[in-house]
Amino acid sequence: MYLGKVMVVFGTRPEAIKMAPVVKELQKVPDIHTVVTVTAQHREMLDQVLRLFEIQPDYDLNLMETRQDLFSITIGALSGLKEVLEKEKPDLVIVHGDTTTTLAASLAAFYMRIPVAHVEAGLRTRNKYSPFPEEMNRTLTGRLTELHFAPTDTSRENLLAEATAEFKIWVTGNTVIDALLSIIKDDYQFGREFDGIDMSKRLILVTTHRRENWGERMREIYQALLELVEEFPDIAVVFPVHKNPVVRSIAEEMLSGKPRIHLLEPLDYEPFAHLMNISYLVVTDSGGLQEEAPALGKPVLVLRDTTERPEAVTAGTVKLVGTSRRKIYEETKKLLSDPREYDKMARAINPYGDGKAARRIVRELISFLYVRIGAQV
Ligand code: UD1
Ligand code: UDP
Repeated sequence: MYLGKVMVVFGTRPEAIKMAPVVKELQKVPDIHTVVTVTAQHREMLDQVLRLFEIQPDYDLNLMETRQDLFSITIGALSGLKEVLEKEKPDLVIVHGDTTTTLAASLAAFYMRIPVAHVEAGLRTRNKYSPFPEEMNRTLTGRLTELHFAPTDTSRENLLAEATAEFKIWVTGNTVIDALLSIIKDDYQFGREFDGIDMSKRLILVTTHRRENWGERMREIYQALLELVEEFPDIAVVFPVHKNPVVRSIAEEMLSGKPRIHLLEPLDYEPFAHLMNISYLVVTDSGGLQEEAPALGKPVLVLRDTTERPEAVTAGTVKLVGTSRRKIYEETKKLLSDPREYDKMARAINPYGDGKAARRIVRELISFLYVRIGAQV
């Protein structure tokens, strides 16, 4: 029995990684017509993921501009999605997480009275400006959502605290674990992108991109890295630099050409995940890495003052260190010098799922479409 048409909308690298398992799972259901629309708020970094997971979007709004701002992404996504939604008239729109694409797509669907399903629902810091604009993007998306797929019990509790109806929430695990487990292989061979890196060193994997860290905070972070490589001759910093020119310019100015600091282009997810797997520790302001690295048993120092992912902090494998040079230096030094401190954090834990989140989500989507048809006849 034909169940209906669902449109999956995403726009950035992490959304693509976390939506790929859902798209793949949906495409296995012959009774659902799946339409994939990318806003391409990211371009190269999105395309890397689409290639890896062999996803061919039905619509590509090709929005990305150099130095785009929140207004231009929102306006472009809203008007592009209006056209696509008017043409396709899906029965359901599925969005992910907390980007500006997420909020614009939920709003566009709402304006057309199309129900929204939100994957990775319910993450909260309760601080409007941290992370910015993600905290409000996901909170507002939550208000527009019919089906909330919460990765953990904590995210479910957050939704309940906002008076979200209990029967609209499902705890599914995070689809990032589905993606990660599908990628990691025992016999993976590292390619040319790692030429020149001494893999026998203890590798510190670094990524930074958060808007609230732009400028002086980023300088503090990079200064701490310089001090650490100076002090520890047996470490190397591997830093695939986000394409954002704001991040690039500071990273290149401060770190380019420094011994044992390797600035790389954004890596494809496959080499990146395996790099994480052989790293000694991860220093990052990313959201996704706080979920992936604990699953691989890697300690994570988070360059932020707040996190919407408290589960791994509670379990002891993720620590919030903020962005002060001294604090980053001291916390990293502790892990590099004290094996007991390191062992306390380096435990594989997986509060974010078992790799079956996408299956659970699609099962609920099928039920939703089925009941909807029943209500129409
Ligand atoms: C966006 C999301 C953020 C998410 C992050 C993941 C918003 C407001 N921000 O932040 O929530 O955590 O993605 O990485 O939704 N660029 C390229 N090529 C690319 C991607 C980006 O050149 O493939 C450059 C462009 O100059 C672009 C800039 O990066 O203007 C910023 O991209 P944007 O999506 O606005 O912000 P991010 O910091 O990537
Ligand atoms: N990632 C990647 N290549 C890189 C850096 C990160 O594939 O060079 C992956 C990483 O494994 C994670 C996601 O991109 O799944 C995180 O993206 P980002 O940090 O840009 O966004 P956030 O998770 O903070 O929204």
